[in-house]
Amino acid sequence: MQLRLNQKIMNPTLYNMALVMHIVGITVMAGATLIEYVTFRQFWKTVAVDQAQGAVVWETISNYQKMMGIGMLIIILGGVGMMYYLHEAWGAQLWFRIKFGLVILVIFNGLGIRRILGSRLNKLIINMGTAFQATQSTRRVRSSIQIVHLIQLLLFLAIYILSIYKFT
Ligand code: HEM
Repeated sequence: MQLRLNQKIMNPTLYNMALVMHIVGITVMAGATLIEYVTFRQFWKTVAVDQAQGAVVWETISNYQKMMGIGMLIIILGGVGMMYYLHEAWGAQLWFRIKFGLVILVIFNGLGIRRILGSRLNKLIINMGTAFQATQSTRRVRSSIQIVHLIQLLLFLAIYILSIYKFT
């Protein structure tokens, strides 16, 4: 079945393939965010008693950042694929405009600010050598990263609600 929208042939199979891609990307990115939050809690517990083991957990956390970046890329590719066919329909709707703003915030918060905090923490850990101590600086970075995770999960929830209810 094909629909004709503003001279463009709508191909439902390709559209649905893009939607599947979108959902795969969401699974990867949101999954990596949640698992990073849990692993960070483990990291603080581990590094306080065993620096070497803490370093292993820290390395695992760096992989989650890569997963988030890849997930975001897949989400965007799927989203752009859908917009290719239904740009006129979705682009003008309120839910989509608000969602787009929130997606920018997801990138800024989860990939931008999180990266800055990660390298700040990395420097603090390296400067401490083999004896990790919870200083005021590490405590500050710890709570900032917690806030980044919380904001990220709330942004995801808001995007889910907007995308599913599609308020116009
Ligand atoms: C963090 C980023 C994003 C998340 C978590 C997200 C999440 C979602 C969810 C949960 C749906 C509902 C799927 C359904 O009803 O079957 C959806 C639909 C949609 N998304 Fe996204 N999205 C994101 C980014 C984007 C971007 C960047 C674009 C466009 C470039 C986009 C375009 C769309 C479109 C057009 C739909 C409607 C699909 C339909 O119902 O036919 N999304 N999104």
